[in-house]
Amino acid sequence: MKVKVKVRRFNPEKDHRPYWGEYQLEAQPTDRVLDLLVYIKGYIDGTLTFRRSCAHGICGSDAMVINGRNRLACKELVKDVGRTIVIEPLRGLPVIKDLAVDMEPFFRKYRSILPFLINDEPPPYTERLQSPEARERFDDTTKCILCAACTTSCPSFWANDSYLGPAAIVQAHRFIFDDRDRGAQARLAILAEADGVWRCRTIYNCVDACPREIDITRAIGEVKKLLLVE
Ligand code: SF4
Ligand code: F3S
Ligand code: FES
Repeated sequence: MKVKVKVRRFNPEKDHRPYWGEYQLEAQPTDRVLDLLVYIKGYIDGTLTFRRSCAHGICGSDAMVINGRNRLACKELVKDVGRTIVIEPLRGLPVIKDLAVDMEPFFRKYRSILPFLINDEPPPYTERLQSPEARERFDDTTKCILCAACTTSCPSFWANDSYLGPAAIVQAHRFIFDDRDRGAQARLAILAEADGVWRCRTIYNCVDACPREIDITRAIGEVKKLLLVE
């Protein structure tokens, strides 16, 4: 089938403003949007810039806006997105070039919620055991691949980019509800600040954007509830 791919192009070093690059190509219905970008870069315009690594929905590096929705390019099939495919960089993060955005502000927020196990108690001889039920408590939020699709789809984040955003809260949830961890109070203090969980207005864009189908609003709600009983 013939498809038209429109990519929002911008090289801050030489362009005054973004413009649309338009490419016509032959595609199979089962091609992924990432395949089309790779083709364009390889055979039509080698200057096109985008990130990808695993190409299998695991690394989280190719989140972008595809026909208006935040998606991983390696998980979107041509047959599901139609013959005209409009691709833009994630919103709310500075564009480095074309579809590559500066992820540092996103990862700074991730680091701020202490995303590692905190436990100063002497470890047992073998390992810190955990029951299957206790592991289940935070199973959903372990699936996060830090693609930023949720945070950059959130209108509350667009309105105020100092909001920690759903991804950071999902990562905090993963440790707060881990019964081997002792850092919950420190994380909750961060999440209770003005730019923490209360900036979430339950808009749900994040849930639609998440390629891992994490129940993000539920995780945020559980953190809010914990703050109310603390
Ligand atoms: Fe991506 Fe989902 Fe993690 Fe957000 S919660 S960063 S959308 S995997
Ligand atoms: Fe934003 Fe998701 Fe909350 S879109 S407002 S973080 S429910
Ligand atoms: Fe790794 Fe798409 S390239 S998730």
